[in-house]
Amino acid sequence: MVKSLNCLISAGPTREWIDPVRFISNPSSGKMGYALASEAYKRNFKVNLVSGPVLLPIEKGIYVTYVESAEEMSIAMMSQFNEADLIIMCAAVCDHKPTKMWSQKRKKADFPPSIELVPTQDILFELGKRKKENQKLIGFAAETESCEENAKKKLNLKNLDWIALNDVSIKEIGFESELNEVTLYSSSEKKVKLSIATKEELAEQIFDIITK
Ligand code: C5P
Repeated sequence: MVKSLNCLISAGPTREWIDPVRFISNPSSGKMGYALASEAYKRNFKVNLVSGPVLLPIEKGIYVTYVESAEEMSIAMMSQFNEADLIIMCAAVCDHKPTKMWSQKRKKADFPPSIELVPTQDILFELGKRKKENQKLIGFAAETESCEENAKKKLNLKNLDWIALNDVSIKEIGFESELNEVTLYSSSEKKVKLSIATKEELAEQIFDIITK
């Protein structure tokens, strides 16, 4: 019997809590990552999805680990990384978190005028350091300026096989939209521009390219 390949995918935003009723996050809907997970499942991968806080339907055969913070997402990704053949980091991980979380709701009158932040761990960068010969690592880059240059920098810095660039300055595509437009860049200097399409259609095209 042929053993099916393992695909590990992250999706959605993370939340970095300030106090029990407030957090820092971003508008990621999770739809692109969930569409990629469904596509992997259709292609007979064994799929592990690490999902930030979004409520989206997913096939029963996909194993989902729900997380909230970047730290929880990191733990979930690291613990499943070694068994994965294909890893796609599609989550919109918050780059910063508050230095501390207040255990009680901070009253409006005492709310500080500024909140001290520290960087979260760059999960994809860590995965890139651990990547083995037989593993393929894919990242996403949401950019608003110098898009190609920034995407290529991240491809190299994070030791990726492919990076999928989204220009999120274009209103019709990206974060909360049903549609997306992606350009893929590979470590072997290939560039493939995919036209604007639904996230499901793009997931299919992305898989055609990255699994070639
Ligand atoms: O550097 P930048 O955040 O733009 O890189 C985007 C890529 O890095 C995405 O694939 C995202 O999932 C990943 N990332 C991460 N950990 C972070 C920030 C981003 O894994 N703290």
